Amino acid sequence: MARIPFVCGNWKMHKTAAEAVALVNELRDGVGEAAGRVQVAVAPPFTALHAVKQAIGGTRIELAAQDVHWEAQGAFTGEISAAMLADAGCTHGIVGHSERRQLFGETDETVRKKVGALLGAGIRPIVCVGETLGEREANRTLEVVERQVRGGLAGLSAEVLAGITVAYEPVWAIGTGKTATSAQAQEVHAAIRKLLRELGGSVADQIRIQYGGSVKPENARELMSQPDVDGALVGGASLKAKDFIAIVKGAL
Ligand code: G3P
Repeated sequence: MARIPFVCGNWKMHKTAAEAVALVNELRDGVGEAAGRVQVAVAPPFTALHAVKQAIGGTRIELAAQDVHWEAQGAFTGEISAAMLADAGCTHGIVGHSERRQLFGETDETVRKKVGALLGAGIRPIVCVGETLGEREANRTLEVVERQVRGGLAGLSAEVLAGITVAYEPVWAIGTGKTATSAQAQEVHAAIRKLLRELGGSVADQIRIQYGGSVKPENARELMSQPDVDGALVGGASLKAKDFIAIVKGAL
């Protein structure tokens, strides 16, 4: 089944609102050349969401959040609710990123709660999974990724699953320049696809599975040419317009 590739730039803790708008303006024309053939989103810091929403107006670029709290409202200083993200114009939300898991105590259980909160606000989750170097070296990659997928998507109907994106991001490849080989990526993506088929039947063929972890212009096309790699979740390279545009075009 043909899946439209989905490429998202995760800007992490980079870019003030003015810098974010400037980057969108640099991206606009280049990304526009892939319009309709590659789905593109950018995930700026919370503080830049409204400004970026304005800046992407008139383009096909979509807005993604980098995280969310699962409660609808309340005494959660510093947190952001799904309704607030919808209010800012987000169509997608990243959850379960390894940096949230490793640095801020994210668990499969909180990922599932956040998935539910995003869905309740009409926002499509991008659910991140991936193993550490130690887990890979212990041959536990598929075990870890399966646990994370099952935990993050527990109990969701096939219809709901169809709208979710999964991002496989081997932790050892994030920010290191040590990209997974296409074969390594395809092996895990195929296992995720098989698991999604168990969870949701034929909708598994609709679900995009992005690869993330040192995606660069020089490796993007080969990675995304793999049968079960349906796009990319891009960190560092998404902060440079020329590189991000090249990665988007690598999905064509
Ligand atoms: O969410 C994407 C990010 O973790 C990948 O980062 O810098 O390795 O592309 P990077």
